[in-house]
Amino acid sequence: MKLKIAVLAGDGIGPEVTAQAIKTLEAIAEVYDHEFEFESAPVGAVAIDETGNPLPEETLDLCEASDAVLFGAIGDPKYDNDPSAKVRPEQGLLRLRKGLGLFTNIRPIKAYETLIDKSPLKREIIEGTDFTIYRELTGGIYFGEKQLSKDGKEASDLCSYSEKEIERIAHLAFKAARNRKKKLTLVDKANVLETSRLWRKVVTAIGKSYKDVSLDFLFVDNAAMQIILNPSQFDVILTENMFGDIISDEGSVIGGSIGLLASASVGDKSALFEPIHGSYPQAKGKDIANPIASILSAAMLLEHFGLHDEADLIDQAVERALEIGMVTQDLDKDSTYGTRKVGEFIADYILTFDGELFI
Ligand code: IPM
Ligand code: MN
Repeated sequence: MKLKIAVLAGDGIGPEVTAQAIKTLEAIAEVYDHEFEFESAPVGAVAIDETGNPLPEETLDLCEASDAVLFGAIGDPKYDNDPSAKVRPEQGLLRLRKGLGLFTNIRPIKAYETLIDKSPLKREIIEGTDFTIYRELTGGIYFGEKQLSKDGKEASDLCSYSEKEIERIAHLAFKAARNRKKKLTLVDKANVLETSRLWRKVVTAIGKSYKDVSLDFLFVDNAAMQIILNPSQFDVILTENMFGDIISDEGSVIGGSIGLLASASVGDKSALFEPIHGSYPQAKGKDIANPIASILSAAMLLEHFGLHDEADLIDQAVERALEIGMVTQDLDKDSTYGTRKVGEFIADYILTFDGELFI
């Protein structure tokens, strides 16, 4: 298969971890005889430094002209403590999501057997956890009208959703549940928010066409508690933009490190793959960031194009790395392995693989 992949490595550790994902994809291309063409463009703080714009037009053009986008990370502390900053790196990612119409963000969370004892949660709680969050990504409070009063003493962010915005992601979430454990949980705040009541109404109606999938509802505060108390009860969680942002970071604790969590953001025409972690500026250039979330995002990219064996081989290489302790310090504080070393191990595993896929 021939794929043109736009590489938006972004800020902080973004370029380091993305380089390992590219190395992995190159190994896959060699073994399976695919042609992957990579082209890079700036986004985020690096793009602001270069052009004044966190999402330069050429970057968006490149993404639109590519089959997929491989995204690194975004954010720089110099903007975080400056509430008056008009231009922010995060706007680059948000505009990209909106510009490419990436309305569904898919974030799988699972407990790796070899890491269970590294989690801050007890083994008996997280064993068997394997769920996926379907987070709405181009609506809600992130994109509603923002206002700051003239005297700067009052501010508001509007949260709004249309039926159509809810329907399109709900169908994808139901289909995903159908191929998994057939359970969908809508997470909302329907006891308080009008938008949540609309979500319940629309999702309940759509559920009638997916009779093989059981549908239940949880208020987000209770969901936050259930994810920690009994995460293995979940299969597919469907939720709006901001709730999804929050519970996915919470869920990352189950896997042992946020450095393991990958995501896919899909729309009707484009797809973007990125680790859920941020730019971790303190680690920039130190070769200590965990590249696995980025590498697993590359596996989700392959899966998206129907390259199942290729994606499985990456998953298997990652499991092997975890099994033998070929991990960065977030997973083992005594580890002497760095970002590059872990990436090299995974690429070598793929290049020299001649066994059976066990996943
Ligand atoms: C994420 C991030 C982004 C978000 C930020 C960087 C804008 O936290 O992808 O989860 O809030 O969506
Ligand atoms: Mn987030």
